[in-house]
Amino acid sequence: MTTDRITVPLIRARKGAGKITALTAYDAPTARLIDGAGIDIVLVGDSVGNVVLGYENTLPVSMDEMLHHLKAVRRGVSRALVVADMPFLSYQTGADDAVRNAGLFVKAGADAVKLEGGLEIAEMVKRISEIGIPVMGHVGLTPQKVNQYGGFKAQGRNTQAALEVFQGAMAVEKAGAFSIVLESIPYSVAALIAKACLVPVIGIGAGPDCDGQVLVFNDLVGLSVAPPKFAKAYANGLELFAQAVKSYAREVVQGSFPASTGGPEIPASELEELTRITRKNTGK
Ligand code: KIV
Repeated sequence: MTTDRITVPLIRARKGAGKITALTAYDAPTARLIDGAGIDIVLVGDSVGNVVLGYENTLPVSMDEMLHHLKAVRRGVSRALVVADMPFLSYQTGADDAVRNAGLFVKAGADAVKLEGGLEIAEMVKRISEIGIPVMGHVGLTPQKVNQYGGFKAQGRNTQAALEVFQGAMAVEKAGAFSIVLESIPYSVAALIAKACLVPVIGIGAGPDCDGQVLVFNDLVGLSVAPPKFAKAYANGLELFAQAVKSYAREVVQGSFPASTGGPEIPASELEELTRITRKNTGK
């Protein structure tokens, strides 16, 4: 692992030259842990909505909420590239809104922003890129369209649908995206897109032929109650944390935590004096 800061040109140069690793983070300590493990990209995903904030999906997430979590993540990262997800309605309403909101993310510490969509958002990708803000695209299953899909469903499962995903990737690449997330599409379709794209494609539920992979941190550590089928848990976080909470509660109730020694000391003479005063004041 290099200790050099990861930049957009470095990510672009990884096309076909070693897999890129990316994970989501929503707070400073998690971001610090991920950064320290040598992950290339920390994504402040709008998945913060369903993963952390208790929303049903990503649609309610606001710019203010994203900025709050982005600033926390930024404070925890010194090496990885920090990419911030543009939330629903922060870019779809026009290129001026898109540029302004992308700019707010940069001012808050983002190295790049991510937008969901294909041809329909190519103009926004172009305008944001043109003013010097790197853009990561996101095609395939784009969660901000969950209502149109009628659920979180894999995309690109017939020739026409796959062609739309393919053309979407081509459109955002042409508009200036420096990399593209491919989410939940047939692996064979992802392989075709990976081959055709000049920029790295980063898969999530899109198979092994992508130039890199991204996962939601809570899915990775087993903290999600209903993770997507494509996620892989490398630890059983829910069980581990539940055990820790139960052990704590048991020890508090039993009186074994905290121990009777090990706290801050007061000299015996001071304690004697204190006891004398409190006894006088309270009679106890
Ligand atoms: O918001 C998010 O976490 C994402 C990833 C799933 C790519 O967009």
